[in-house]
Amino acid sequence: MNWWKLSLILALVAAAAVILAAGISTAQQPASAPAMAAASAPAKVINLPKPHMEGGMPLMEALKNRQSARAYSDKPISDQVLSDLLWAAFGINRPDGKRTAPSAMNWQEFDIYVFRPDGTYLYDAKANTLKEVVAKDLRSQTGGQRFVGTAPLNLVFVADLSRIRQGGSEEGNLAMVNADAGFISQNVYLFCASEHLATVVRAMVPKKPLGEALSLGEKQRIILAQTIGYPGSAPAATRPGG
Ligand SMILES: Cc1cc2nc3c(=O)[nH]c(=O)nc-3n(C[C@H](O)[C@H](O)[C@H](O)COP(=O)(O)O)c2cc1C
Repeated sequence: MNWWKLSLILALVAAAAVILAAGISTAQQPASAPAMAAASAPAKVINLPKPHMEGGMPLMEALKNRQSARAYSDKPISDQVLSDLLWAAFGINRPDGKRTAPSAMNWQEFDIYVFRPDGTYLYDAKANTLKEVVAKDLRSQTGGQRFVGTAPLNLVFVADLSRIRQGGSEEGNLAMVNADAGFISQNVYLFCASEHLATVVRAMVPKKPLGEALSLGEKQRIILAQTIGYPGSAPAATRPGG
């Protein structure tokens, strides 16, 4: 065999090896492709019914009925009631985008995470939607008290500190953030009183694991949680003084 025939054979062998390698790498792709597709799959979005912005109990009567409750039935909360509740909590009530609750310097730094048996969502007040954050029932992760995992709804109020503009000291800013959370919570309390729903605001929240479960960002802070449902007949107080 002369040298050029040998070179030709070697070149053919090399080309075959390249084609084989390409075939193997192409054959590997389908295994990872579905994983990528799943990761980039669009999040589920629930369009809420338009909230009722009228009616309800007279304010003084609602104030008379406002109270914390720690016994809930498992009766679900309809999307209409949820839409009304979220609008009352921190919905948009004016054409300029301002909200039903005040916020320091109009920071509007709060996001409301919605924990239901069918998953965990982020309320978008402008679009009036729930955007799925985690496709799992994480209700029990919002607190250690007995009723938390079985009540039909928990809200978690998360402040995004990156929205703080022209703030003061860190301590001063946090005081305002905490105050802002209180207004949202009181709106929920008054809505619940008006609708004969049970509710309790909760500072006892396992913030670190819950933040991880929600994949919160560095500037996001869980401030308060609030449980909501229809009144139940379980033992009343599950917390000293409650
Ligand atoms: C900032 C704040 C944090 C609270 N945290 C909890 C809590 O983690 N768990 C709970 O059962 N109640 C909690 N509560 C509810 C209080 O215990 C309740 O408001 C108080 O006992 C008075 O009862 P009332 O709301 O029925 O008037 C909290 C209330 C506030 C204002």
